[in-house]
Amino acid sequence: MKRHLGKMILTYATVVFISGCSGDKKDNLMIDTKNETVNEKVSQLLSKMTIEEKVGQMNQYNGFWDVTGPIPKKGNAKKKYDHLRKGWVGSMLNVRGTENVREVQRIAVEETRLGIPLIIGFDVIHGYKTLSPIPIAESASWDLEAIENSARVAAIEASAAGINWTFAPMVDISRDARWGRVMEGAGEDPYLGSKIAQARVKGFQGDDLSKPNTIAACAKHFAAYGFSEAGKEYNTVDIGTATLYNIVLPPFKAAVDKNVRTLMNSFNELNGVPVTGSSFLQREILKGKWNFNGFVVSDWASLNELIAWGHAKDKKEAARIASTAGSDMDMEGNVYIEELTSLVKNGTVKESILDDAVRRILTVKFELGLFDDPFKYCDSTNEKENIGNAKHHEAVLDVAKKSIVLLKNENNLLPLKKEGQQIALIGPLANDKNSPLGSWRLASEDNSAVSVYEGMSKYKGNKLSFQKGIDLITGNEAFTQPLTINKTINDNDIEKAISIAKSADVVVMVLGEHGFQSGEGRSRTELDLPGKQQELLEKVFAVNKNVVLVLNNGRPLAIEWADKNIPAIVEAWQLGTQTGNAVAQVLYGDYNPSGKLPMTFPRNVGQVPIYYNYKSTGRPNREPHVFWSHYTDSENTPLYPFGYGLSYTKFEYSDLTVSSKEINKGNNLTVSVKITNTGGYDGKEVVQLYIRDLFGSITRPVKELKGFELIKIKKGESKTIEFTLNNNELGFFNANGEFVVEPGEFEVFVGGNSTETLKETFVLK
Ligand code: NOJ
Repeated sequence: MKRHLGKMILTYATVVFISGCSGDKKDNLMIDTKNETVNEKVSQLLSKMTIEEKVGQMNQYNGFWDVTGPIPKKGNAKKKYDHLRKGWVGSMLNVRGTENVREVQRIAVEETRLGIPLIIGFDVIHGYKTLSPIPIAESASWDLEAIENSARVAAIEASAAGINWTFAPMVDISRDARWGRVMEGAGEDPYLGSKIAQARVKGFQGDDLSKPNTIAACAKHFAAYGFSEAGKEYNTVDIGTATLYNIVLPPFKAAVDKNVRTLMNSFNELNGVPVTGSSFLQREILKGKWNFNGFVVSDWASLNELIAWGHAKDKKEAARIASTAGSDMDMEGNVYIEELTSLVKNGTVKESILDDAVRRILTVKFELGLFDDPFKYCDSTNEKENIGNAKHHEAVLDVAKKSIVLLKNENNLLPLKKEGQQIALIGPLANDKNSPLGSWRLASEDNSAVSVYEGMSKYKGNKLSFQKGIDLITGNEAFTQPLTINKTINDNDIEKAISIAKSADVVVMVLGEHGFQSGEGRSRTELDLPGKQQELLEKVFAVNKNVVLVLNNGRPLAIEWADKNIPAIVEAWQLGTQTGNAVAQVLYGDYNPSGKLPMTFPRNVGQVPIYYNYKSTGRPNREPHVFWSHYTDSENTPLYPFGYGLSYTKFEYSDLTVSSKEINKGNNLTVSVKITNTGGYDGKEVVQLYIRDLFGSITRPVKELKGFELIKIKKGESKTIEFTLNNNELGFFNANGEFVVEPGEFEVFVGGNSTETLKETFVLK
């Protein structure tokens, strides 16, 4: 039975009603939400809440439509509605659209005793309906403004659909391309990852969370999920403190410094403790050392997983461990709602644990302005006007172009001539309108991407013909289901592809991974071109050497054969809604590529994990015997290093100087370098600065990114760029997690990727 309390609706703008415990709403206490500080408002509300209601705030249910985890049991919708009405639900995820959100919100504010609004979460990972490139792609732009803007667009669309909280950004650093979720992150480097984390948080949250088009962000997955052993999803993580403090944690800290309002913990264990139950991470570091005052949501049923991990023997124990460890909200696990009330009542869990969690949750709800107007995100006119509007398409096209990385361009095969050419477009992904949307795109329409074929067709001066050659998958493609990769060849299809290749001036082949081959639950043991694509590539190359390979993928691929043989290679990832337009504009030179890899590309899977900021080892040097650190069957070097990417023009670096050969701790060192555009096009370059701390109490990586700047340079022009180094860049975390700055010799490198050797030195006193 639904009760409509018309009287109440008038008062949402300023007042929250709090009644006694009878279950009926009574206006016996009113909090003026405009005139109290958030803290006071929260305290007042908290003081009126029953234990059940507090536990309710810590309970998050999946909605009744989309599912982004193991499918919940059938028939529990009735229970969820019942709990909503009792005030036993603090948040819902996967409820979207103003109508649906209004419905559940209405129950929360009109039918519960205290009328506390829900916070509505959704995975807005790379856009809502209008999709930006997948995050790893976007990170390849190294363009913080473009990245922030893309998150802004996502927030505008999501908030127009009733959502006020995104489960993004994923800030997990990963060195393992086998792990499917590298598509969701910013790659392998903590410095770049921290800058991108902050840009995304800013884009989602804006300057003022109470505005109707800003949403709370969620830095996830806290922590170390990206180090899952062997790249296998949901696996054990066993890493040392140096890696934890220096590589894993910095992007989370950066997000906290940017006032990210929530964090999500994760499915992995860290050194023997499943992180959902880790007091060390959540209480000691996050809420202790970092003083984080937002809240932590668990990952989907990760509280229950404490049992499968063998860390808790039942749900009761899971509830105790997780709540005590600082997991404030239980996502779709039913653990808190079933167990926590009795644990508090019998004294096993202190009520102060609940108070702390609920205070955090209510604070974010107040900050979002949900108490002032719980329906502020439910304006259907706004929904119609903002979702999918033309300005958003322009914005995602802009970032899509910037995300493309030119990996190889022999004999300047690219850019393509715009007139008089016969172009053969070949490959299973060349006219695909679904796969380029990538993973995590629940609210977008299927087949809504501009395909590469459609994008290239806009260039009318050439004759374009298309053949798929082979199919990449058979059967259905769905976010929650495994894909079936096609392993068969249809001779007729191949013949058609070969025939258009033979008569073409240039062949463009679009190959790679399907959009659902990366993402959650999509780890791979091979990093090749899946299915029969390698065979297709070789067959086409045999009849026409002028091949441009356009890669679509959600992770680094090992494409050694292609690198050796194919003259031009373009890394185009999965670029979202505007994929085809972005690719075409780059291929035709209307946009000069400027992307740089945020993750190392290996030569083969055996090299993985491979990353630029490795340690030297005790035997780093190539020797004429076997006793040095290497493989007998592969080079140590990657196929393409971190930070690498070409342009249609050329950049030369010179005049590297340091302001002093010696500096004292705490003083600034200025590093300057001259960059000259010596090629034939105007272009953009990401100027990267790396340091090497030669000796440390903890061994230091051979290189560490400590600065970058994206600059535009006209052809023939030179620019001088300055970087400043200080304690923040020169120090590191020791094994106890203390930040130390140790005197000694440093090298500083500046260049267009992590292997450049232009070098200066200085001594820190
Ligand atoms: C599980 C994923 O690990 C997490 O990233 C996501 O936000 C939740 N499911 C909710 O969909």
